[in-house]
Amino acid sequence: MSVTVRVPAKVNVQLAVGGARPDGFHDLANVFLAVGLYDEVTVTPADSLRVTCEGPDASQVPLDRTNLAARAVEKLAARYGRRADVHIHIAKDIPVAGGMAGGSADGAGALLACDALWGTGASRDELLDICAELGSDVPFGLVGGAALGTGRGEKLRVLEVGGTFHWVFAVADGGLSTPAVYGEFDRLHAGVDVPEPVASGVLLGALAAGDSAGLAGALSNDLQAAALSLRPSLASTLAAGGSAGALGALVSGSGPTTAFLVPDEAVAGEVADALVASGTCRAARVAVGPVPGAVVV
Ligand code: C5P
Repeated sequence: MSVTVRVPAKVNVQLAVGGARPDGFHDLANVFLAVGLYDEVTVTPADSLRVTCEGPDASQVPLDRTNLAARAVEKLAARYGRRADVHIHIAKDIPVAGGMAGGSADGAGALLACDALWGTGASRDELLDICAELGSDVPFGLVGGAALGTGRGEKLRVLEVGGTFHWVFAVADGGLSTPAVYGEFDRLHAGVDVPEPVASGVLLGALAAGDSAGLAGALSNDLQAAALSLRPSLASTLAAGGSAGALGALVSGSGPTTAFLVPDEAVAGEVADALVASGTCRAARVAVGPVPGAVVV
């Protein structure tokens, strides 16, 4: 018997970053939107824990115990006093190391899948606690939709969204390391008193109203300068999508994926074509959000 869970990628429509905390993390006001690019995580009983992965970027996915899916299964097994003997198979469609929380999605997906496989009866809050231990972006993979993340991003408040937003994502060549981008943020802000991160009222209002133009005007990512500093070529990608008709553009999370908010599906296709033609990205993907979080399929 196997269980498969489908789990979405995210884009941060606002990522407000505070100064470095004593524990090295940063307080955030992180507005997550789940978008319809998905990984599928399948768990099957096996003799021992192992991870396999398929998809165009599968070779970049770690298959050892550092994979968040493996860590999620080990944590759930330890909590319920069982052996983590499952084969985890990841069908990967979310860009790897791209700032779209693909690894976190796999952690949330594997956790939900094993919970169903083993019938642990864990409460939603227990699962969310395990997710928060795994990483700052993992709880959102379970919750989906739209949410405001505070603390290091793991404390979630679900947000109402009044419509569907259309996006194009430009997938860059190679990934960016999240700790490296936060490190560059610290370097760029050395000696600066970084203000407390706060969610934008205008942005939350635009989300609630389903107002694409309003949301486009309020998009912001405090990690964008750091990502651009480490990967200056992203500026040409942002410019290419902007001149092709996007309402707004930003780096997704710690990058290097760039996200373009567009008015509708037709413009999404045009912007995607223009991005590919510009030669400033490896691929362009079209998706809508919000979409639900991890679900057993
Ligand atoms: O929580 P997660 O494991 O995803 O974080 C990866 C890295 O990103 C952390 O080790 C830290 O360097 C950085 N980070 C941070 N502040 C956050 C979230 C992540 O500095 N709120």
